[in-house]
Amino acid sequence: MRFPTLALIMSAASLPAFAQMATQSDPIQVEPVLEVPSEDYRTGWVQIGAFSVLAEMPADGAQEMHAVYIDKPALEAYLRDGVFAEETRIVKEVWSTRTEDLTTGRASYADALKGRFVMVRDSKGKLGQGPRFGDGWGWAFFTGQETRITDTEDYRDACLTCHEPARDQGLIYLQGYPALRR
Ligand code: HEC
Repeated sequence: MRFPTLALIMSAASLPAFAQMATQSDPIQVEPVLEVPSEDYRTGWVQIGAFSVLAEMPADGAQEMHAVYIDKPALEAYLRDGVFAEETRIVKEVWSTRTEDLTTGRASYADALKGRFVMVRDSKGKLGQGPRFGDGWGWAFFTGQETRITDTEDYRDACLTCHEPARDQGLIYLQGYPALRR
């Protein structure tokens, strides 16, 4: 019979496409410069600011807390020069929350780590060439406690649209960082 032969040829022809799909879902090992810092940034770096993202019903408090860190030399360079030095790393933690009535009022606080965003300053495009580098930064996200396997394939899809509103601030939401005010 001719038909099965044809089917066989067709499936062989589409093999490369399947192979490609498999590659895409393979874990992505991030460039070392974009890894979540191995040093203890929570105690050794400066938390420059925090955001709380409210739940749909504001009375439920915050649905997420975001805490943002840079290291001390990078902070000092920014305060001196007004721009982020090359290779400055910014780490943003995303926390799920609990909300309770405390003696201060209804308060939300960090519960479990949902993931971490890392940006690294690369204004000259020297740190990396791939799809996680561009617009003056390297960009990556890591789920949970992960530090090396990133969820980010291409920053233009995964990050940039959301950071466009901060374009005239170098793509950084500076309004949230008291430590950077000069
Ligand atoms: C849904 C929109 C959205 C997406 C998608 C997004 N960001 Fe952001 N990002 C923000 C906003 C808004 C802030 C500041 C306010 C906040 O955290 O709630 C921020 C803050 C940050 C910060 C702290 C420094 C700053 O810019 O203020 C880092 C680091 C960061 N994002 C990295 C990334 C990376 C890397 C990606 C892609 C993997 C990404 N973001 C994707 C909206 C987004």
